[in-house]
Amino acid sequence: MSEYRFDSKVFLSPMAGITDRPLRQLTHSFGPGNIISEMVAVNAISRKNAKTYRIADVRDENYPVTVQLVGGEPELFADAIKLIEELGAAGIDINMGCPVKKIVNNNSGSYLMKDISRAAAIITQARKSTSLPLSVKFRKGWDNNHVNAVEFAKMCEDCGADWITVHGRTRSDMYSGCADWDIIASVKQAVHIPVVGNGDIDSPQKALAMMHNTNVDGVMVGRAALGRPWLITQIHNFLEQGVLPSSPTNDFIKEVMLKHLAGLKEYYGEHTAVSLARKYVCWYCKGLRNACRFREKFVLINDIKQAYNSIEEFFSTLEEEEKE
Ligand SMILES: Cc1cc2nc3c(=O)[nH]c(=O)nc-3n(C[C@H](O)[C@H](O)[C@H](O)COP(=O)(O)O)c2cc1C
Repeated sequence: MSEYRFDSKVFLSPMAGITDRPLRQLTHSFGPGNIISEMVAVNAISRKNAKTYRIADVRDENYPVTVQLVGGEPELFADAIKLIEELGAAGIDINMGCPVKKIVNNNSGSYLMKDISRAAAIITQARKSTSLPLSVKFRKGWDNNHVNAVEFAKMCEDCGADWITVHGRTRSDMYSGCADWDIIASVKQAVHIPVVGNGDIDSPQKALAMMHNTNVDGVMVGRAALGRPWLITQIHNFLEQGVLPSSPTNDFIKEVMLKHLAGLKEYYGEHTAVSLARKYVCWYCKGLRNACRFREKFVLINDIKQAYNSIEEFFSTLEEEEKE
């Protein structure tokens, strides 16, 4: 067993296709907050698939990254974890909550909530294979007729997990409706290992409410951090010092967007950076005046210089309009 030792109570959720190295670096640049990678497929990493290998490689990052694994074959976890350790992981998280069909059909993700003995075999194998902090992220249950988060949490603890994250939705809920925080509170009561609560936290106040209502040890934030990577540290500061953040200025948002674009370019190269930037730009501009028109233009851009110019132009027009 390793100790659960994190410098913050706040975690950036693992999000496939999103919490890549550029976003992790950007999030870390704002200050404290724990970072989990995108999910890494165990069978692909075991085959040394080059793309997966790159996703799992966190050696160049100067902050601890917990790497999330997803897979359904217990025997593949030993080799996968060995590789992940060599690639610089500071901790291993196992995804037992992903609702996506492709993952579920592969005996992994939230499927494992229906097959608790397979889940137990995976965690036991993982525990044997690493002395790094080991965690499991799962949901409330498969559907409302199969709510087993408490039983599942106890199994994780018995098999040697150091900490767990509970997302208060079932697999059938996908991401809809409200997360059930009561189930998170029940899990917290049932186990001795630290519990991180996840679902619908979109502000420092909501994070505090989750801590109070469920007594969890930490909180994990996903969708609300899209286009607001600074939110993780804002929540940290609020939980630690009661400091409520001021709204970000347009200048601040612009600088973050430009920095993110530069990070994407460095990691993926110009062409991929521009296409990936489209989704981020849409999130960053949410709520800004004339954002719709800007988004419509931005998604047609294929060239990095044009992308930079278009961001600059959008914000200078905003500034001029605000002066009027
Ligand atoms: C686009 C997207 C990708 C996600 N990818 C993963 C993933 O790779 N692993 C995982 O455990 N959860 C994944 N999740 C789930 C989130 O980590 C989180 O549990 C969920 O969004 C609920 O938290 P929230 O209400 O703060 O968004 C993903 C969610 C989204 C929206």
